[in-house]
Amino acid sequence: MTSCIEAWYMDSYDEDQRKPHRLNPNQNVSLEQLRALGVFYWKLNADIYETDPELEQIRKDQGYSYMDIITIDKDLLPNYEDKLNMFFEEHLHVDNEIRYILDGKAYFDVRDKEDRWIRIAMSKGDLITLPAGIYHRFTLDESNYTKAMRLFVGEPVWKAYNRPADHFEIRQKYVASLQGS
Ligand code: LAC
Ligand code: NI
Repeated sequence: MTSCIEAWYMDSYDEDQRKPHRLNPNQNVSLEQLRALGVFYWKLNADIYETDPELEQIRKDQGYSYMDIITIDKDLLPNYEDKLNMFFEEHLHVDNEIRYILDGKAYFDVRDKEDRWIRIAMSKGDLITLPAGIYHRFTLDESNYTKAMRLFVGEPVWKAYNRPADHFEIRQKYVASLQGS
């Protein structure tokens, strides 16, 4: 088990979204760089997620009252292909996106300030929060399986607005929050 997520700048090849798409030479992105974009990260023990006091504390501190679990697997998720295609469309939400990987692996891609794609490799025990208004997308990796907890403050709103969504107030607020960081 690694103690940290890994993130890197992506190449611009369209072929197979499930591949790592690292630049050559590779250019890693640090947790500090992610933080500057409003992306936050915790490492937890996913083996005890049902009783984990650390997770309880985070949920309490952040007000994550809602949670459910989604298994992204060809045989378990209805409309698997459609959903994966939808998740990989660049989009934003008007609320934070909070995901905790309980099993398997996945990539979250986020745009940096210069509009470059950063790929964040998530595996078991990784909890991430993406700020409202950030452009992002999601894909499985080549292992084609993940089980994730979705957390939310209050009643969940999963509505995604595909890019371009620059006219949203939350987008303008997010862009303004990047100034000077
Ligand atoms: C979501 C991820 C796929 O919006 O970004 O659920
Ligand atoms: Ni999303």
